[in-house]
Amino acid sequence: MNAAATPPAPGQAPQRVVVGISGASGAVYGVRLLQALRTCPGVESHLVVSDTGWRTLRHEMHLEPDAVRTLAHVAHDADNVGASIASGSFQCAGMVIAPCSMRTLAAVAHGLADSLLTRAADVMLKERRRLVLLARETPLHLGHLRNMVSVTEMGAIVCPPVPAFYLHPRSVDDIVDHTVARTLDLLGLAHGLGGRWQGLGANPGSMAPGTD
Ligand SMILES: Cc1cc2nc3c(=O)[nH]c(=O)nc-3n(C[C@H](O)[C@H](O)[C@H](O)COP(=O)(O)O)c2cc1C
Repeated sequence: MNAAATPPAPGQAPQRVVVGISGASGAVYGVRLLQALRTCPGVESHLVVSDTGWRTLRHEMHLEPDAVRTLAHVAHDADNVGASIASGSFQCAGMVIAPCSMRTLAAVAHGLADSLLTRAADVMLKERRRLVLLARETPLHLGHLRNMVSVTEMGAIVCPPVPAFYLHPRSVDDIVDHTVARTLDLLGLAHGLGGRWQGLGANPGSMAPGTD
């Protein structure tokens, strides 16, 4: 689970990515994203997990905090609003909240920087940096939808983790990897997670081209 870190090229600053895990279902998205970021050359991941995020990591993945923290290059406590990622002077490529609960979505939509997770997201918006929210709830009421409109108007990208059945996923891992791959695309990071559409007739009907 703990892949080796890929250091930046000599003389190059690391590209930092902040990963927030909030208490929506789908803790696996945050974990898989951290694992994928370990394989992106020169990327330094910063993690912050909400209290309920820790609960869903335990419940859905049987993961204790230490096991999750070691997946990131730097792990921050959610109550430490004085951490580096709370400042606009912290240079980074962007932030992903994976998964993003409706509570965290609402906090971001209303600028409630009441924890390090929501403060870091607020900073991304004020600095006009990439903020990707893997918002997860269903069905959605009008308040959820309005909050999605608000964060979109402020520059965030709402990216619900929705399976792409046209790629013929064979496992939950395939479905998760597809969303993580699209998320890395949104950050502009090169990755090898595959699963790209080649056009009708060209796709062999598999997440791994050529394996059918
Ligand atoms: C097992 C579990 C699954 C949950 N799934 C969701 C979900 O999919 N979407 C959501 O918005 N909230 C979900 N919740 C409720 C949130 O955890 C709750 O609203 C919490 O206050 C969110 O806090 P946070 O945004 O600070 O992490 C879930 C809670 C638990 C315990």
